[in-house]
Amino acid sequence: MDRLRQDLPHSARMYDYYLGGNTNYAVDRDAAEQVILSFPAVRTAARVNRAFVHRSARLLARDHGIRQFLDIGTGIPTAPNLHEVVQREAPDARVTYVDNDPIVLVYADSLLRSSPEGATCYVEADATDPVHLLDVVRRDGCLDLTRPVGLSLNALLHFVPDDRDAYGVVKTLVGALASGSYLTISHCTPDFAPEEWAAIEDVYTKGGTPLQVRSRSEVTEFFTGLELLDPGVEVAHRWNPEPASGPSLITDADASLYAGVARKR
Ligand SMILES: C[S@@+](CC[C@H](N)C(=O)[O-])C[C@H]1O[C@@H](n2cnc3c(N)ncnc32)[C@H](O)[C@@H]1O
Repeated sequence: MDRLRQDLPHSARMYDYYLGGNTNYAVDRDAAEQVILSFPAVRTAARVNRAFVHRSARLLARDHGIRQFLDIGTGIPTAPNLHEVVQREAPDARVTYVDNDPIVLVYADSLLRSSPEGATCYVEADATDPVHLLDVVRRDGCLDLTRPVGLSLNALLHFVPDDRDAYGVVKTLVGALASGSYLTISHCTPDFAPEEWAAIEDVYTKGGTPLQVRSRSEVTEFFTGLELLDPGVEVAHRWNPEPASGPSLITDADASLYAGVARKR
């Protein structure tokens, strides 16, 4: 249980707290409450992110024929999980989940309840060592990386600062994928509430998790060389909203999250 580091706040457990989950400790709740104090909309932002995770994965399975998904920075299971969303569209879809936080593995059983026709797998690996991560995914054998894959890096890359080579990480991961694969990213931004996000970066970084939020152009740069689907990099709640969802009362500052999906030629 040592590896769970209950003495330090952790991003996965803080995110779980924003979403109303129970998989968090006092140290996570204290740090999360500091963030909420600076930016009360953080819970809305977390929900906007989950909705984008679902919409984008559904779109790839339903409209783009994607049957393999590599989800890095999975987080603590939150229903519906990505495999549940895509296997509803395509029961034979296969999903490999990856996270570097041992607590995700503790709860991985709910990530591994696949449809009988498909498959789900979980591997522990760190995105900042993408060569090793890809090796572990290949050895795990759940996905065939010679065929198209939907790679999702949702709410992950703001935990990979420039000094950990965030752009190099994405380039290596995308470079390993077959033509016809897709890259999905959601990423927190300071563009609409800079002071609040400076305070949030401080809370995370002081808690031992360096956080680097990025502007629209910095997020767009992750998609270099890929074909962005419409509407490009957009504030997440305005990225292909579902018609039934009606007019949104959420502001761009509430969401503070950019999102995009792009195809590898
Ligand atoms: C905010 S959660 C996002 C969960 C989910 N992707 C979503 O969008 O709802 C970020 C996750 O990324 C994981 N993470 C952070 N840095 C990572 C790294 N270097 N390698 C792998 N996972 C990482 C954290 O442990 C956490 O579970």
